[in-house]
Amino acid sequence: MTEKIQQLLKEVENFTSESMEEVEAFRIRMLSKKGLISELFQAFKNLPPAEKKTVGQQLNQLKVTALDKVNSLKQAIEEQQTRQKSSEKYPDLTLPVDFAQTGSRHPISIIRNQINQIFEKIGFVISEGPEIEDDWHNFSALNFADEHPARDMQDTFFVEKNPDIALRTHTSSVQVRVMDGQKPPIRTISPGRVFRNEAISARAHCIFHQVEGLYIDKKVSFADLKHVLDHFAREFFGAHTQIRLRPSYFPFTEPSAEVDVSCPFCKGKGCNICKGTGWVEIMGCGMVDPNVLDNCGIDSKVYSGYAFGMGIERITMLKYMVNDLRLYFENDMRFLKQFETAF
Ligand code: DAH
Repeated sequence: MTEKIQQLLKEVENFTSESMEEVEAFRIRMLSKKGLISELFQAFKNLPPAEKKTVGQQLNQLKVTALDKVNSLKQAIEEQQTRQKSSEKYPDLTLPVDFAQTGSRHPISIIRNQINQIFEKIGFVISEGPEIEDDWHNFSALNFADEHPARDMQDTFFVEKNPDIALRTHTSSVQVRVMDGQKPPIRTISPGRVFRNEAISARAHCIFHQVEGLYIDKKVSFADLKHVLDHFAREFFGAHTQIRLRPSYFPFTEPSAEVDVSCPFCKGKGCNICKGTGWVEIMGCGMVDPNVLDNCGIDSKVYSGYAFGMGIERITMLKYMVNDLRLYFENDMRFLKQFETAF
């Protein structure tokens, strides 16, 4: 029996494995109820009492050694497995850090900032006005006749009637506020949101953005206006850009004009963006009507000035070729992410 015990002890001591299944099979073969060690314990019962003491000690030692072996091997395998799992989670600790996603500027903000900067560099200051306006600032002071169609419920979102309070339909209202509060010379641009009662489509929206420009001083002429517009077009669309003015009508300017730039896509050759004409319209402008100056407390016999107004969405479309207005308001990450590198 002692021989058998020594033989098993050797086997236990020499046993090693990195597989959980093998260790478990080994445990069953040695230590389960019908295992080799259990069998020896059965045989031990029939030994003569004289042998029982030494053999008993040897048997116990065998059992403890086998148990220790099984436990320590299982523990080592488990530790190895958890180490492997965590290294799968961080496969390569030398890889660059995965930075948290950052936001980016909205294309309308990018273009608004670019427009602001171009005018700030030549001495214009930024001014802002309220989005909820009274009739005087949005219409009357700007020389809109009482029956002008723009005052119609169809075009304007009214907040209150009599006295009329509405969401401003253009940023020209800021002109009135600036002139009311300042003495010329005035050189200002006013970016902001405007609202019109329009059905939403690819080409029209009830909310959009404008930038208004205003310059009032002594002896301001139409040539000054043309010069500053030419400068803006070259700065914004590139040095090769040309402008063209077409006579138009606005209640608050006289004379008034519509401003076209040579198509930034085909450089004036004619493409489907400019509908083959080589020109695209970007804004309205004109000499501030003397009635407007007088309405705002500026003596039209002493001062003159020019004004212009452009839609930021329209300019953004021309810069980025995004021709569905709705995309600017949906905040779809797939759309916005395309402007991450611009600022
Ligand atoms: N307020 C005009 C609009 O919303 C744009 C505009 C045209 C502004 C001519 C001006 C201007 O200052 O002179 O359509």
